[in-house]
Amino acid sequence: MARPVRRVVLGVTGSIAAVKAPLIVRGLVKKGVEVRCVLTPNGERFTTPTALAALSRAPVARRSADPSLWEMAHLSLASWADLILVAPATADFLARLAHGRAEGLLDALVLSARSPVAVCPAMDAEMWAHPATRANARTIAGYGYRVWGPAKGELASGRVGTGRMLEPDEIVRRALKAA
Ligand SMILES: Cc1cc2nc3c(=O)[nH]c(=O)nc-3n(C[C@H](O)[C@H](O)[C@H](O)COP(=O)(O)O)c2cc1C
Repeated sequence: MARPVRRVVLGVTGSIAAVKAPLIVRGLVKKGVEVRCVLTPNGERFTTPTALAALSRAPVARRSADPSLWEMAHLSLASWADLILVAPATADFLARLAHGRAEGLLDALVLSARSPVAVCPAMDAEMWAHPATRANARTIAGYGYRVWGPAKGELASGRVGTGRMLEPDEIVRRALKAA
């Protein structure tokens, strides 16, 4: 039987859907899950470390070389997590994962993962439909990462198409069963 997920690292990247990341944190915390958030510099343009820290009741990791962190955050968080969940995941982040990039904290963390990794893409329909993005999604699925969504629905542009991040409740439901 799968063991329960108790500790989730939530990575948040620079999609407009990052405004929903606090709802994912809240949903997980309500289920008794400990959450640590990792925010990319572009993610920080769409949601705030303060909201994520307040809801997760923990500091938010933002940069690999943060002098206030005495330990290497990418390694310590990778060994702490039962699940690394990236929601939302941008097209650029999927491309970086597909190529094993490790420049940013979140990228290095996923490369160091010992736990399952799940990503929730969120982007415009054209970005998701592009052959490069499709190839990147297939590549990371081949590494064993779970790709949850995206869904069809109304996008940030106001148009309807496939690229919308799964709803926070659905992401929480899947995360609880993911280990
Ligand atoms: C207003 C705005 C909205 C954006 N929304 C998305 C999005 O939903 N999905 C996406 O893949 N990129 C989106 N981008 C582009 C990303 O922010 C950009 O590719 C960035 O480099 C991603 O950085 P990160 O993956 O390191 O967080 C958006 C950019 C802007 C300015």
